[in-house]
Amino acid sequence: RKTILTLALAAALPGVALAQTAANPIVIKFSHVVAPDTPKGKGAERFKQLAEERTGGRVKVEVYPNSQLYKDKEEVEALQLGSVQMLAPSLSKFGPLGVKEFEVFDLPFIFPSAAVLDRVTNGPVGAAMLKKLEPKGIVGLAYWDNGFKEMSANRPLRDVKDFKGLKMRIQSSKILEAQMRALGALPQVMAFSEVYQALQTGVVDGTENTPSNYWTQKTHEVQKDMTVSNHGYIGYAVITNKKFWDGLPADIRTILEGAMKDATKYTNAIAQQENDEALRKIQASGKVKVITLTDKEREAWRQALLPVHKEMAGRVGKDTIEAIYKESA
Ligand code: LMR
Repeated sequence: RKTILTLALAAALPGVALAQTAANPIVIKFSHVVAPDTPKGKGAERFKQLAEERTGGRVKVEVYPNSQLYKDKEEVEALQLGSVQMLAPSLSKFGPLGVKEFEVFDLPFIFPSAAVLDRVTNGPVGAAMLKKLEPKGIVGLAYWDNGFKEMSANRPLRDVKDFKGLKMRIQSSKILEAQMRALGALPQVMAFSEVYQALQTGVVDGTENTPSNYWTQKTHEVQKDMTVSNHGYIGYAVITNKKFWDGLPADIRTILEGAMKDATKYTNAIAQQENDEALRKIQASGKVKVITLTDKEREAWRQALLPVHKEMAGRVGKDTIEAIYKESA
């Protein structure tokens, strides 16, 4: 009898009578490629906790880490098709979708500090970039930090000439491709889930990533040398399927927006310390030699890589680059 009543109500009040309950929740599948014990992994768990608590169970968030459901390229397609509802791909992975503006975050040495980065993502430049996702059927909800990248290989990377001829794994970004070429290396685009094995078998010689990703992927087991260069940045855009998001009951969407805001604050507050801690663990493992560049050595890298800004201005937008320079001044 209950069913008949529900059906009758549904017919009379579409969208209201079928209001979600804890027994019949809205399910958000949140898929990502990194380990749970990372800034992104922890951010996804925090969002789940807040979203479920604050909706009284009317929303259920299922977090799938470690490319369990989808690898880099497939996950964005799956989001567009509605097979998953939430992702947080790195900003370096939106080019294949046709949103190349995010690649500005890949420009080597463009952010002199985390504070500048904050001002860019939280200001008009960051907001305008998220808007570019909408024609693709995607809503950008937030920017999440990971941190600054280090280089690794099986040879010490101290001078620019040390990169010569090395096959270096990169994310799917044209800027990162130009960056590796500027160093004399050979860039190879590869899904995150394949990197460990590619390093182990010598398909590639080295890579770049944040300490948190290096540590949780056990990269120190398959690389001999790492250079703390902080030459570039990895951050994420948390995204959702626009049709799904717009179709949510308004009260639920408001609660989820609040949960995302607080999960974002949390993630961005822990990211730096997570990376510092990971770097300490990598050093303590004794498995990889960690080089810290002197100011002079780092300046030589910077000089070799700054031309990439001009070279790639046409791709990411000269105005955006200028706006970031202005934030840095
Ligand atoms: C990578 O592919 O190296 C990173 O984007 C992985 C991640 O999500 O941090």
